[in-house]
Amino acid sequence: MELLRDLIIKEVHKKGKIPFAEFMQMALYHPKYGYYNSDKERVGRFGDYYTSPTVHRIFGELIAKQLEEMWRIMGKETFTIVEMGANKGWLCCDIIHSIKKEYPVFYDNFHYIIVESNPYAREKQKLLLESIHVTDEKVSWHTYSEDGFSFDRIRGCFLSNEFVDALPVHRLKVKNKVLKEIYVSYNDSGFFEIDDEVSPDVSKGYIETFQIHLSEGWECEVNLGAAEWLKHVSEKLRKGFVLTIDYGDTTDGLYRENGSDGTLRCYYKHTVNRDYYERPGEQDITAHVDFTNLMNTGRSAGLEVTGFTKQSHYLLALGILERLNNTNKDIETILKVKNLFHPEGMGDVFKVLIQHKNVENPQLTGLRPLHSLAM
Ligand SMILES: C[S@@+](CC[C@H](N)C(=O)[O-])C[C@H]1O[C@@H](n2cnc3c(N)ncnc32)[C@H](O)[C@@H]1O
Repeated sequence: MELLRDLIIKEVHKKGKIPFAEFMQMALYHPKYGYYNSDKERVGRFGDYYTSPTVHRIFGELIAKQLEEMWRIMGKETFTIVEMGANKGWLCCDIIHSIKKEYPVFYDNFHYIIVESNPYAREKQKLLLESIHVTDEKVSWHTYSEDGFSFDRIRGCFLSNEFVDALPVHRLKVKNKVLKEIYVSYNDSGFFEIDDEVSPDVSKGYIETFQIHLSEGWECEVNLGAAEWLKHVSEKLRKGFVLTIDYGDTTDGLYRENGSDGTLRCYYKHTVNRDYYERPGEQDITAHVDFTNLMNTGRSAGLEVTGFTKQSHYLLALGILERLNNTNKDIETILKVKNLFHPEGMGDVFKVLIQHKNVENPQLTGLRPLHSLAM
């Protein structure tokens, strides 16, 4: 998208160099041309990647089961579900449809808030919800910006699937034993990278707090937006849970698994590349989520860790096999559902973090040890 590229070049010329996070912010979230603000088909067969809700509705049904359990644990009071970054609304639709069908008392006691910045996606969510006859008063739409959320404090659950990985990241690397930040500049040959001093925000917000130690030549990403978001979430959560599903790992796991290269990748038409400066606005740019960062930020903001596990564990513990048994089992369905929990599919790379606030020692089915499952 030439127009967006030109706008980024203009910004770089004005400032000399910009942190990579600013490049990523423009490429993904420029109000008109950013990847996540356009009408582009992003997810699914004709898009750039698949997400769990687009694989099979069983995913949403199991999340609905989880939410109903949280509602019971919290004493069956009025419960608000806040979904961040709902894209076209598949997850929201599967959850509401399942609650309506399987948990009628819960259905009468919950409200769903969608927080979605893409105006085209919001229209598609409305159409999808109309198709399952969800009444207007069940769902409302709100916004999230650096000033926080546009709704009052809630009791319930903040839910997100693949939201955090889509937030802009700063990039750091160790050069001659000194930690440097990667900036983006431009000349006649195109975009190029400059290593320079780490921005004060990154230094204060992350390095000093979490004391990361990298070896010579190693690269890593710092997601300041994730920590900011979680602080705002905790402010708005009077009582309840935060359920975050995304790909990533603990800090240790990320560096063990991904070595020195960092985890930043681009997705374009179901292929992965590291050409970050190609096709701005037309390809996704994403980094693995550092769940240790979310756990630590959460703790200092008043959120306790309920549990952290792999998506495979979580879905098996919630009963994905039993549900599959009771579903129309054509081979295509079996393979799709298997992909959700198979270690070589989405099962191991995706993780589930649950945090809670003002709930006494909650025991959730999805976090129970797998040896307790009757196979
Ligand atoms: C990778 S997509 C996740 C899609 C969806 N959750 C799924 O599982 O298919 C990230 C979503 O977050 C949304 N998003 C990013 N920043 C946002 C913000 N500040 N407020 C609301 N939505 C945001 C994007 O528009 C996009 O729909």
